[in-house]
Amino acid sequence: MLHWLTILIANGALAQAPPSPVEYRIQRAASAINIDARLDEPAWQRATPTSSFLFNWFTAGEKEQTEARLLWDDDNLYVSWRCADRHISAYETKRHGPVSKDDCVEIFISPNPQKVRNYYTFEINAIGTMLNRCRTDWFTGGPTWEPEGVRHRATYSGLARKDESADDREWIVEMVVPLRNFARDAAHMPPRHGDEWRLNLMRTGGKTNAQQSTFSPILPPSRSFHSPENFGKVVFVAQNPTAPQPEGKQAGGRRRRIFSGPVNAADAAVGREIYNKSCTMCHGLDGAGGDRAPALGAQRRYLRRTEDELFDAIKNGIRGTLMPASPAPDADVRKMVAFIRSLRATAADAGFEGNVAAGETIFNGKGNCTKCHMIKGRGGILGPDLTNIASERRVEDLRLALTTGRPQPSEGFKPVALTLKSGARIDGVIKNEDSFSMQVLSKDEKLHMILREEASRIEYSERSPMPSGLDKKLAADEFRDLLAFLCRQTRQPR
Ligand code: HEC
Ligand code: HEC
Repeated sequence: MLHWLTILIANGALAQAPPSPVEYRIQRAASAINIDARLDEPAWQRATPTSSFLFNWFTAGEKEQTEARLLWDDDNLYVSWRCADRHISAYETKRHGPVSKDDCVEIFISPNPQKVRNYYTFEINAIGTMLNRCRTDWFTGGPTWEPEGVRHRATYSGLARKDESADDREWIVEMVVPLRNFARDAAHMPPRHGDEWRLNLMRTGGKTNAQQSTFSPILPPSRSFHSPENFGKVVFVAQNPTAPQPEGKQAGGRRRRIFSGPVNAADAAVGREIYNKSCTMCHGLDGAGGDRAPALGAQRRYLRRTEDELFDAIKNGIRGTLMPASPAPDADVRKMVAFIRSLRATAADAGFEGNVAAGETIFNGKGNCTKCHMIKGRGGILGPDLTNIASERRVEDLRLALTTGRPQPSEGFKPVALTLKSGARIDGVIKNEDSFSMQVLSKDEKLHMILREEASRIEYSERSPMPSGLDKKLAADEFRDLLAFLCRQTRQPR
């Protein structure tokens, strides 16, 4: 353990100052949510997780991550926690009992940022026992509180006790709280787009590995979850998670926290070589995934997301799995971390190099891209707007978009050729259709509303209008520069 700590300190990980107050954007629930501790609804799947939990003072044991998400609608606030955990135990079954001694998750909420000391608490252990307090300047009901209409479920709800077991992997808590519980402190009920609240999400670890981790860092000298001045900022936004983000950033500032800055491209290149010498037998060439270990750069839900966590996994291995500790020197491990980050990072964070100005000239000229694509209000509308594409895609996705083409055109870009009974022809892409009508955007950028009965012939095409093979049509450096230009397209300047 001492050895491991020394490495982290040498690596600067523990010495790093905690980041500025964390922020999270609470999006609208895009579908109904069942409170069943499963989180399989589309609403949860699309919701952005908060940034990784931080281990403020917990050092002596395994740090296991928690993935929390929040959603809202006009009536409710929804909260979920997914806790990686190899030692799950919970014993408290009495309502308002001391559940935080068990494996337990918590949320403390201040609906009024001007009065953070007015806050409401929800603590739930792994067998579903809940404790609530209302610590506000108006509540006179004593140490505990009965919120109205709360429903919650934990993975082990219903058990009389949960002992640690060798099979333990993770547990989940899902909760819905009617917003009316906060009406006395919130500025608006229901909240309005842009309203800010303060809150913290926490986790305690039970018998083994106490965790004591939090979404928003708890700054010394405090060592208590009950320190509202340390709560993070959350903002209610009216979009649901499928809608584009107005700020051109993923909700939750997740990327900012996990990828602390652009990846150093030179390090990543060296890291890739080291990786391909010692890790491919399990993870596959270039981290693509093998029979014995997961892909390292696929867009899945990673267990380990921060640089520190990746470093730790490679340096020390992952206990209880096939993942071995690497004998490589720290400097090489850091380069492998850079390589893995480069696989995962969005294009904007990947540090892809090239002549951006030359790429822009190709985009606007020879490449003919503006015929179909708009960037910052300039260009055509037959293809998707690329203003923020570098924050939404990885370099690899962009490369594929330019070279291989999609097997099938995406919704909204499916080409169609119509012949109307009047004899007119319309060539374009389908924006919307149902059994009676369709909306077609024709190549001259006019939107046509057509009843199916007006058409004598409808020819769908399975080929996307997006040209492919651009790596062959352009010279190698032109292709690289075009890609470098695309990698700079973010709504927010960096
Ligand atoms: C003997 C097979 C094996 C070898 C060799 C191996 N790994 Fe792994 N690795 C695994 C397995 C299995 C996991 C998944 C462990 C788990 O279940 O959490 C894993 C997980 C990881 C993770 C964590 C992924 C995540 O996001 O949770 C990283 C990072 C990683 N490996 C990097 C490497 C690197 C770099 C090397 C080469 C130095 C390497 N691995 C060599 C089997 C291997
Ligand atoms: C004839 C119209 C047309 C032209 C010309 C065109 N594109 Fe596209 N492009 C599209 C369409 C339509 C899509 C959406 C394809 C799909 O998802 O099926 C697309 C998709 C893309 C994507 C992927 C977007 C995403 O959301 O992942 C990128 C990147 C892109 N184009 C870049 C370019 C560049 C760079 C050029 C110029 C070299 C170009 N396109 C030229 C129509 C065009």
